[in-house]
Amino acid sequence: MNAGILGVGKYVPERVLTNADLEKMMDTSDEWIRTRTGIQERRIAREDEYVHDMAYEAAKAAIENAGLTPEDIDLFIVATVTQESNFPSVGNIIQDRLGAKNAAAMDLGAACAGFTYGTVTAAQFIQTGAYKNIVVIGADKLSKITDWEDRSTAVLFGDGAGAIVMGPVSDGRGLLAFDLGSDGSGGKHLNLNEKRKLYMNGREVFRFAVRQMGDASLRVLEKSGIAKDDLDLLIPHQANIRIMEASRERLELPEEKLMKTVHKYGNTSASSIVLALVDAVEEGRINDDDNLLLVGFGAGLTWGALVIKWGK
Ligand code: UT7
Repeated sequence: MNAGILGVGKYVPERVLTNADLEKMMDTSDEWIRTRTGIQERRIAREDEYVHDMAYEAAKAAIENAGLTPEDIDLFIVATVTQESNFPSVGNIIQDRLGAKNAAAMDLGAACAGFTYGTVTAAQFIQTGAYKNIVVIGADKLSKITDWEDRSTAVLFGDGAGAIVMGPVSDGRGLLAFDLGSDGSGGKHLNLNEKRKLYMNGREVFRFAVRQMGDASLRVLEKSGIAKDDLDLLIPHQANIRIMEASRERLELPEEKLMKTVHKYGNTSASSIVLALVDAVEEGRINDDDNLLLVGFGAGLTWGALVIKWGK
């Protein structure tokens, strides 16, 4: 049996922080942020709203959307790098809060590529027949580790969570191929500094992202046996519209096959790709048997690319 997506859900915080709001907080401009990144606004969690709260809401919605109950879930995999504490894990907290008494739970850290890593991990359990229903969540609260004194990073990030339920699917649907990777030598370009705030060398990460997103996308397509022309939607990590457009051009896809949410959520780390996937589903942009390419990159440095044929 192959592993596919049975349901989706999301949660974004209520508070909207616009570029105009940021202009009042630091030396920046709406024009600079829009033209360099494509971001217009982002969501920021309340002080007392944590990754596990957002992950819980997204998971609950995804389980309902799949037509399942929490007791049907065998495993929770939570991709995050901004959990309140390393233990208990976010997975443990939401497993308990949902009353998912038959489920195992764990967190997984691969920064902005975390959701792709989590999806591939879940697929292995399903393809071997070990587990049936697995919830994969991407959830991050980057506002917590943002250095609000550093305008070169503070304007980029937002908070949120997205979730999918994975389970057995038939008719050639599900995860067709993946390409995961790590280049730890680039770890110095994106990390937590001594103040426990996010440090990034934007130009280096930009270069890495453009190269790796393109290369990984072409490799995973080749592995999947799907031709570029047969791709229906590209759902890249929503970090910067210029990086996303570079991936689209590398794949020679028309504008309408690129899913974009960066303008309204900014870069939400592990949530970014899954939030874009959920919005694409909600907007009716995905049909059964569509070929989707999900691709991300992030701190590590890491990357992950997946080809999924949509449908149960
Ligand atoms: O999930 C992992 C994600 N990380 C990324 O995706 C980041 C990848 N990198 C990028 O997206 C881009 O490198 C940035 C958006 C971060 C920066 O864009 P850039 O075109 O690489 O700009 P830059 O760093 O080369 O800076 C250009 C100028 C500089 O001024 P000078 O030295 O040319 O006078 C900066 O000081 O823009 C200035 N600048 C700003 N100006 C207004 C930097 N940040 C800002 C700002 N507002 N917020």
